[in-house]
Amino acid sequence: MGQHLVAPSLLSADFLNLGRDIEMINQSQADWFHLDVMDGVFVPNISFGMPVIKAIHKIAKKPLDVHLMIVQPERYFETFRDLGATYLSIHIEAVTHLHRAVHQIREMGMKAGVVLNPHTSVSLLEEIIADVDLVLLMSVNPGFGGQKFIEATYDKISKLKKLITEKNSGALIEVDGGVDLQNAGKLFLAGADVLVAGNTVFSSTDPAETIKKLKEAITG
Ligand code: DX5
Ligand code: ZN
Repeated sequence: MGQHLVAPSLLSADFLNLGRDIEMINQSQADWFHLDVMDGVFVPNISFGMPVIKAIHKIAKKPLDVHLMIVQPERYFETFRDLGATYLSIHIEAVTHLHRAVHQIREMGMKAGVVLNPHTSVSLLEEIIADVDLVLLMSVNPGFGGQKFIEATYDKISKLKKLITEKNSGALIEVDGGVDLQNAGKLFLAGADVLVAGNTVFSSTDPAETIKKLKEAITG
């Protein structure tokens, strides 16, 4: 079994009360802040950028897990490092020179994550898995919160877990999209270390309690 970390996605937070929602996460059992950066090109949506992340970093007491859904992410590695990113994750579909990009992120002092869209095969990571700190499996097509979980993700977690073991990699497995109280336990059991949850946390009446339930989820 993995590490049972939970990373609430601020995409579903109340932006008029962002400080309050960050404080709630600070006080909760959540492990990381998941920040979704979208450019309207790699994905059809635009979320938030540098000034917002800068403000979040000022009061966040937990690591920032930055998920870049942008083309040519290399342009901004340094910027996100300066903004306080602990984990910086880039889509395999958005970079040509993944090896170089992963090493650049690490050389800048951040942990490097590689993200796979639902259609992208885990086998493409074979030659890079030993060099990455995190693999983020998209369990929805990226761009929006509140979408339906894609069941084929379980199979990808198993394949990825096998690859990580075979290659002696220390990479964590993170799952993003459609995570809820029903599938969380099953995802941890399948080998996920980190679950991202936006809608499930922020649409609940007691977000901190929901985070606790996600972390403790053990059955499917
Ligand atoms: C989707 C983002 C997700 C999103 C998850 O493109 O990468 O992090 O916020 O939202 P939920 O948990 O609502 O599916
Ligand atoms: Zn995300």
